[in-house]
Amino acid sequence: MDTTATLWLPQQASTIAPDVDALFYFVYWISIFFLAVITFGVVYFAVKYRRRGKRDQLTTGPTGNHRLELTWSIIPTLIVLVMFGWGFKVYLRMNVIPKGAMEIKVTGYQWAWLFDYPHGFSVGKELVVPKDKPIKLLMSSKDVIHSFYVPAFRVKMDVLPNRYTSIWFQAPREGEYQIFCTEYCGKGHSEMLGTVKVVSQPDYEKWLEEQASNSGQPPEVLGEKLFTTRACNTCHSTDGSKSVGPSWKGVFGSKEELASGETIVVDENYVRESILNPHAKVVKGFNPVMPTFQGILKDKDIDALIAYMKTLK
Ligand code: CUA
Repeated sequence: MDTTATLWLPQQASTIAPDVDALFYFVYWISIFFLAVITFGVVYFAVKYRRRGKRDQLTTGPTGNHRLELTWSIIPTLIVLVMFGWGFKVYLRMNVIPKGAMEIKVTGYQWAWLFDYPHGFSVGKELVVPKDKPIKLLMSSKDVIHSFYVPAFRVKMDVLPNRYTSIWFQAPREGEYQIFCTEYCGKGHSEMLGTVKVVSQPDYEKWLEEQASNSGQPPEVLGEKLFTTRACNTCHSTDGSKSVGPSWKGVFGSKEELASGETIVVDENYVRESILNPHAKVVKGFNPVMPTFQGILKDKDIDALIAYMKTLK
């Protein structure tokens, strides 16, 4: 099986990809064929039957031809029915999730992806899955509509607030594949990226163990990881530069003036409140645009982020 990218389509990295591509190219070549025939016909007849001079007089209009009309009705109908039948078959295969698929919960939020594993931990940015196993993604959004798209797998599905959607895939080869958000969801839409990393079964088990041992790491180390994997870095810098939100550098322990004119000290309680209820106390000069991280960050994660913030002097 040739799995390299072609002119129109990226490499085929899931079991469904060859089916999708075969259907795509069927529709594509039929369209090219008729485009060529019709374009040629239009140009050819326009030239052949052009008016050559005053002597060319219009005749009476064309009369009906049943045989011709039946031909150009029946043949295209058959072709369209083949496209429908074939498309429906592939659609079913894409949408009926095989029994025994491993279920991973995907949460889209402004502006990152969060993956909750059945083993009880969550990761951001990078979805790690074993190869040759059917994987079901049960997806929902915390805020606006997003769309989960992995071009190499040929799977794409809207991710909605207050409703679940799901897709599945099975990846036959190890590798890393790009995840995009394909529904415009605000300022950070183009940065709402991620990776699916397909690994062998032994590597997957090793990775699972690593995740389990992560709970033993110092909070500021975990916090530094969460800062990027939970996409805090989309709006906050760590070098003092002003972004959408205040920089984390030196912010812990500082006195800040709020939009209301009140002055507060950035302590553990203020940071925690700002993560869970970001619009409660907005520092003067910033817009109240941060989404809540309720449900995305667990208490332990918030502790870790505070510990990390304290190291940024
Ligand atoms: Cu999420 Cu675009």
